[in-house]
Amino acid sequence: MWLSTAWEAVISGNGVSSGFGDDWLKFAGIKIFYDGGMTLKTALMRDAYPDSHVASQPSPTARWPELNVDPALPATDPSRAGLALFVKQCLPCHAVNGAGASALDPDLNQPMNPTQYLTREGLRALIRDPKSVRNWPGLQMPGFPADQMTDREIDLVIIYLTHMATRRGTP
Ligand code: HEC
Repeated sequence: MWLSTAWEAVISGNGVSSGFGDDWLKFAGIKIFYDGGMTLKTALMRDAYPDSHVASQPSPTARWPELNVDPALPATDPSRAGLALFVKQCLPCHAVNGAGASALDPDLNQPMNPTQYLTREGLRALIRDPKSVRNWPGLQMPGFPADQMTDREIDLVIIYLTHMATRRGTP
């Protein structure tokens, strides 16, 4: 028996012991899992589980105020909807004003914002399908087909980016 004496005490206290049985059915060591699994949400993670009901993580805009639109904009301003879509679809890879979890892919506001060097049509096409604009073996950005982003949603993200070009370095 390889269990520690403390566990041995607990387990034999439950009426379980090892080394009994017959040739057909033998009870040997008992393995105890304590490292947890993702599916059962018992594994130890740095951040809360994404669908956790415990609000232990501030929202991205609270964490990175640099992502925010001008607070003076009305609640219905489309760039606010664009911000929400940007956070969901683009922020995992792209920063804005240096803010965001990823520092690997291009920042979409500095040094320049793509709305300043791409046409609206070109930007729309790039978001939908980057390789339709330019293609090379190292291309990494996935496209966003219509079932992931509607035309309207792509336009809202572009409205957000256009607005952010006026807010470079202004948290
Ligand atoms: C999985 C990571 C990923 C996601 C998600 C992503 N991108 Fe990208 N994006 C990249 C990478 C990497 C590049 C650099 C070119 C390449 O390797 O494809 C890039 C390039 C770009 C460029 C061109 C920048 C330049 O000047 O060359 C734009 C514009 C852009 N992304 C916008 C977006 C927008 C808007 C979204 C959200 C709708 C988005 N991306 C989502 C990874 C991503």
